[in-house]
Amino acid sequence: MAMVDTNKNQAYLQWDDEFVNPVLARTARIVAEKAKGSYIYDMNGEAYLDFSTGIAVNNVGHCHPKVVEAVQKQAAELMHTSVVTHHKRYIELAKKLVEIAPGGLNSVFLANSGAEAVEGAIKMARYITGRPGIINFKGSFHGRTLMTTALTTSKLYYRERYEPLPGSIFTAPFPYVFRSHFPNNPEACVDECIKQIDVLFNQFIHPEQVAAFLVEPVQGEGGYVVPPMNFFSRLKETADKHGILLIVDEVQTGFGRTGKMFAIEHAGVEPDIMLMAKGIAGGMPLSAFISRKELTSKWPAGRHGTTFGGNPVSCAAALAAIGVIEEEKLADRAAKLGAQIIERLKNFAKGKSYIGEVRGLGLMIGVEFNDAEGNPSKELAEKVAARCFENKLLVLTCGNHGQVIRLIPPLNMSDKECEEGLSILEKAMTF
Ligand SMILES: Cc1ncc(COP(=O)(O)O)c(C=O)c1O
Repeated sequence: MAMVDTNKNQAYLQWDDEFVNPVLARTARIVAEKAKGSYIYDMNGEAYLDFSTGIAVNNVGHCHPKVVEAVQKQAAELMHTSVVTHHKRYIELAKKLVEIAPGGLNSVFLANSGAEAVEGAIKMARYITGRPGIINFKGSFHGRTLMTTALTTSKLYYRERYEPLPGSIFTAPFPYVFRSHFPNNPEACVDECIKQIDVLFNQFIHPEQVAAFLVEPVQGEGGYVVPPMNFFSRLKETADKHGILLIVDEVQTGFGRTGKMFAIEHAGVEPDIMLMAKGIAGGMPLSAFISRKELTSKWPAGRHGTTFGGNPVSCAAALAAIGVIEEEKLADRAAKLGAQIIERLKNFAKGKSYIGEVRGLGLMIGVEFNDAEGNPSKELAEKVAARCFENKLLVLTCGNHGQVIRLIPPLNMSDKECEEGLSILEKAMTF
C-alpha cells in the first residue's frame, strides 16, 4: 500500500527549493495556507500564534473582516487606473492620512513599499532643497533598493558586495543607550549623538549641502532600539538651524504600533516628511509619504510618479484598516498591553545576566541577549526563536548582531493569546 503523505507542507517546500530564488530567506519553514486574527495555519492545519505580523504589517490581525470586505468590494469595482485618471479611494485615503498625521503634514504621495516611500522622499528632499547630502543613523534600516541599501547600516550583511552604493550619505550615531558609552546616562548619550552631527558638519559635509536627516523614531531591524525622545527635538533644532529637512521613517512604527498612531508623537516633534508603509493597509501592499504643501508645491508635477502606487484595492484596504485602528482604539490597547508585557518581561529578566535589556514602546518590544562576557549573543536569540517555533509561536530576531528577539503581535490580540505567547516565550528564554 502506498504511503499517504500527511505532511502537505513538504511537497510545496520542495517546489520552493526548486523554483524560488534562494536569496529569499524565510524565517519559518512552513507553508502558510490561511490566517485569521492572531494565527497563521499551515497546509497541515497546524496553528501558529503570530508575534511577527508579517514584520509589523498585520496590526489589525490577519484577514480582519472589515479589511477583507473592503478589498472584495473594491476589487469588483475598480482595480487599477494608475496616473491615467484620478480615483476616489486615493483621494479619500490622502484626506484620511492628513487627518491622522501629526501637525501640519497635509500633502500625500502613495507608493507600494517602504523602500519606495524612502526613495520618493529623498528625491523630493534633494529636489526642493537643491542639496545632495543625506544624514542617516547607525543601526538604521530603510529598505533593499540600492539607495535604501546605502541608507541602511543595521548590518553589513545588507550592504556588502553591492558597492558602489549611491553617495552623499553621512552616518551619525543613534542614541542606543544600552550599548553606548553612557549606558546609565541617556542625557549624555543624546548630547554625544548631537555633538557627532557637528563633527560631520565640520569634517565631512557642510550643513548647507545637507538636504535631510533620515531617522526611525524607534529603530526596527537595528534592534528595537527606543531612543530618549528628546533626541528628536534636539535633531529638529539642528535641522531648522541649517535649513535641513527632517524625514521620519514610520514604516515599522506607524499605525498604532507604539501606543500612538505614529511614534514621533511621543516626542512631540513635527517632521517635514513622514514615511508610512507596513501596517497602513492591513496586509495589502501600500506606502506613503506625507509632507507640507509649502514644500510639495516646490516639486513640479511629473518629476516623480508610479504605475501601481495608490492602487484602489490597497487604498480601500487602508481606509478599512485605519478605521479599525480608530474604532477598536488599537493605539491605546498597544500602549496598555505593551506596558504590561514590558513590565512582566523585565521581572522575568531579573537575575538572568544573559538577558541584557528588555525595552520597547507599545507593542514594539525587544529582548536583547548577552553572552557570558556581556557581548551581544546572536546564538541565544536564535535559540529562543527556534524554541518558540517548536512550540508554535512565531517570533523574529533583529539587532546589529541578530541578538534581539522582537515581539510585534497584532494590536488586537486577545488577553488569552497574549498570555499563551508570553508563557511560550518565557519557557524558551529559560536556560
Ligand atoms: C523602518 C523601515 N523602513 C523601510 C523599510 C522598507 O520597507 P519595504 O520592505 O516595504 O520596502 C522597512 C522594512 O522593514 C523598515 O522597517
